[in-house]
Amino acid sequence: MSASIREMRQADLDRVLQIEDASFPTPWTRFMFSDELKRVGAGRVWLVAEKDGVVIGYAGIAVFGDEAHVMNVAVDAGSRRCGVGRDLLLHLMAEAVALGAARITLEVRTGGREARRMYRNAGFIEEGLRPGYYSDTGEDAVIMWTGTLTPAMISAMRAADEGSDVVLAIESSCDETAASVMRGGIEQLSSVVASQIDFHSRFGGVVPEIASRKHTEAIVAVVDEALEQAGVGFADLTAIAVTYGPGLIGALVVGLAYAKGLSLGTGLPLVGVDHLEGHILANRLADPSLEPPFVALVVSGGHTALVHVPEWGVYHTLGQTLDDAAGEAFDKVAKLLGLGYPGGPVISRLALEGDPHAIEFPRAMMYSGTYDFSLSGLKTAVINYVHTEQQAGRDVSHPDVAAAFQAAVIDVQVSKAVRAAEEHGVRAFCLAGGVAANPALRDALQRAMESRGIKMFVPPMLLCTDNAAMIATAGHLRLRRGGFLQFDAEAHADLSLDSIGGN
Ligand code: KG4
Ligand code: ZN
Repeated sequence: MSASIREMRQADLDRVLQIEDASFPTPWTRFMFSDELKRVGAGRVWLVAEKDGVVIGYAGIAVFGDEAHVMNVAVDAGSRRCGVGRDLLLHLMAEAVALGAARITLEVRTGGREARRMYRNAGFIEEGLRPGYYSDTGEDAVIMWTGTLTPAMISAMRAADEGSDVVLAIESSCDETAASVMRGGIEQLSSVVASQIDFHSRFGGVVPEIASRKHTEAIVAVVDEALEQAGVGFADLTAIAVTYGPGLIGALVVGLAYAKGLSLGTGLPLVGVDHLEGHILANRLADPSLEPPFVALVVSGGHTALVHVPEWGVYHTLGQTLDDAAGEAFDKVAKLLGLGYPGGPVISRLALEGDPHAIEFPRAMMYSGTYDFSLSGLKTAVINYVHTEQQAGRDVSHPDVAAAFQAAVIDVQVSKAVRAAEEHGVRAFCLAGGVAANPALRDALQRAMESRGIKMFVPPMLLCTDNAAMIATAGHLRLRRGGFLQFDAEAHADLSLDSIGGN
């Protein structure tokens, strides 16, 4: 991206018209451009991108009070896909906001997929259609709008493009209060996690009211510590990222409200992150060579989902659990065996000493032909087995139950994961979420994927369970795509990954 951006001049018009004529079915005329240039300084901004002294693209915007309308963005055919259009657009947006625009709008052809993607990736949202808008083809126009913009938001997007952004991330969706500072989405400056597990374990699970209260008590100190460990102050930050769903609503609200307060007090832009997106992005943090397209298996205390990621920021959930989440099943079986909370780590340790073939537990939905999971039947089978054995006066081998239960979970997950990866033709597969800390699941997936030539990514243990470093990495990507949260944004207990990006 070595083009330089400057104001358009009358002398550029020969070259501008060449690009215009080659780019659009009903090009603007010389008269129209001349007329626009006369309005520069009175609410119009026209810029060109120049490389080696040659104009390779241009763009213009009209500002009307607190709204601005992108009039034209074009790049010479030979220079497309190099970020010139994006560079022009971000410069235009900055100029429009400096002139007082708060929101920016534009129309784009429904068939202009590349243009639509470029605008989406700059924070424009498709809000409606203008039927038959283009007189040449009768094509509909898609109307796109940004949210309310500040100069800090646009410079934050540019910093994220360069990888020089410093993001403070906050996570409070379940039972850890966490904060992290990250540069460029991959250079971790700090990661602080305050776990509440001790307060919940005596109840055998997370108690939502206790979670909210403990987050409130911890959040100020956790954020302060993350900043201190990173050696940065608010003035060094580019943006704040916060988990706004899915999770326990009362817990999410604490992090979101605190992040909003910080954003309001400092003027730093706020980006919202989906907790599951964070888990997936832990893989990118651990190994920056990860690139879409890939399939991810997200297995945590609250979720079990297979997700296809065709490009950054776009998620298609292929299937998910119809009842219990994988981690929840581990926790419930551990509770049944009197092993405490959380159950995953204990069960996986016990399983090492047991025989996975000692007991035959059901593999629910293994051959369902869908990517959905069901784990409550397995949990019931384990309960029935233990009760039957106890009633018959036989000793129950906890290691055998643990090993056989774990094997049943893993068999179904590996078989569906392999099918999803093969059907979508991906060369990379990610494991994510708290249950990704399970060594047997990691090994089984690794073997299954690598024997098929699919590269397997799995985060180190510390990044599998809830943390804010993964939220910071996801926040960096959100920032690049202009995914800002406004102050009226709410937390969503059931936030869906698929609602993030369109295609
Ligand atoms: O992702 P996470 O920290 O929190 C949620 O977003 O839910 O996941 C916590 C879950 C718990 O259910 C815990 O039992 C499970 O991850 N887990 C494990 C292991 N370590 C943690 N499950 C199986 N094997 C493990 N080694
Ligand atoms: Zn989680």
